[in-house]
Amino acid sequence: AQTEKDLLYKIHEVANTYFQEILWDDDEGRSIGLAYFKERELKDDIIKKFQLGYSPEKKNAFTTYALEKGYNKEILEKSGLSIFPENTPAGVDRFRERVIFPIHSFSGRVLGFGARILKNNVKTAKYLNSPETEIYHKSNVLYGLNQSKQAISRKNGCLLVEGYMDVISLHMSGIENVVASSGTSLTTEQIKLIKRLTENVTILFDGDNAGIKASFRSIDMLLTEGMNIRVLLFPDGDDPDSFARKHPQEYVEKYIENEAMDFIDFKAEILLRDVGSDPIKKAEAIRDIVKSVSFVQNALKREVYLKEVSNKFGLSEQSLFNELDVQKQITQ
Ligand code: CTP
Ligand code: MN
Ligand code: MN
Ligand code: MN
Ligand code: MN
Repeated sequence: AQTEKDLLYKIHEVANTYFQEILWDDDEGRSIGLAYFKERELKDDIIKKFQLGYSPEKKNAFTTYALEKGYNKEILEKSGLSIFPENTPAGVDRFRERVIFPIHSFSGRVLGFGARILKNNVKTAKYLNSPETEIYHKSNVLYGLNQSKQAISRKNGCLLVEGYMDVISLHMSGIENVVASSGTSLTTEQIKLIKRLTENVTILFDGDNAGIKASFRSIDMLLTEGMNIRVLLFPDGDDPDSFARKHPQEYVEKYIENEAMDFIDFKAEILLRDVGSDPIKKAEAIRDIVKSVSFVQNALKREVYLKEVSNKFGLSEQSLFNELDVQKQITQ
């Protein structure tokens, strides 16, 4: 028998085809949606590879289409694609006048959508995403994993970026081992998805404050799951998307290879930026780094990292071990 979940998968497949047809075959879709992607320098084949689409301006374009196809209001509402307010029996589409990024499961089923406004200055959220549904659990999904899984295995390494366009632009430059956390803090479930393919992760977050904060949280999560990490911050103002479009593939690969640091060097660089010679602030920074070391599960690795901290700051290993013990008690 067809379960509600089956029906939700089906309706997402229908919506995914619909948004793509609008993008390629409809006047509004072509002149606004496709034009937007072209302005961001995406080529046809990459737009197709990621199944990008467009949702029209009309209030209930998709809802009308889906109702005509025989889907009922209840399932449309449950899918998160339509809303039926009290006085609006014809329904309202969740996504209107936005370009559409379908979000796939590991195995390639469409679970939900991200949708971007076309102009940056509008007072509404830049991206609107599907709500949690019976088939879409945001914290269990990594954007791009389906398109990137083979390259991640082959290269035995995964690049972790923040956004949809970062994944897509890197693919367009030929760098295909990349997934996005979609702007949120990385979860254990997401890390486990990566771990099926590789234990090596390079964090490539935006060079702004939000990106730094997110990278600190992600470092501790990844260390807890036993992953090996390197971290790279792009120059302020750049994210992987803008960087990949400015430079040829080889340059981007070399840049990542050469500039990515281990988490100790990375945290030290950020935390010591404004410390000057203030000993209290310096001690705080070192404690913060040792706290991250305390998340390393393997005892041998933990000791190696601690030795690195010791060398880097000219501190005795004994005092760092003491601090590590304190931090472990706090974090466990
Ligand atoms: N995000 C979101 N909702 C927002 C803002 C961001 O879901 N209101 C998520 C999106 O997945 C987005 C990611 O966080 O891709 C990173 O955010 P940001 O760096 O602000 O956007 P970009 O991906 O750089 O978007 P663009 O290049 O399209 O401007
Ligand atoms: Mn579930
Ligand atoms: Mn950002
Ligand atoms: Mn960004
Ligand atoms: Mn961007």
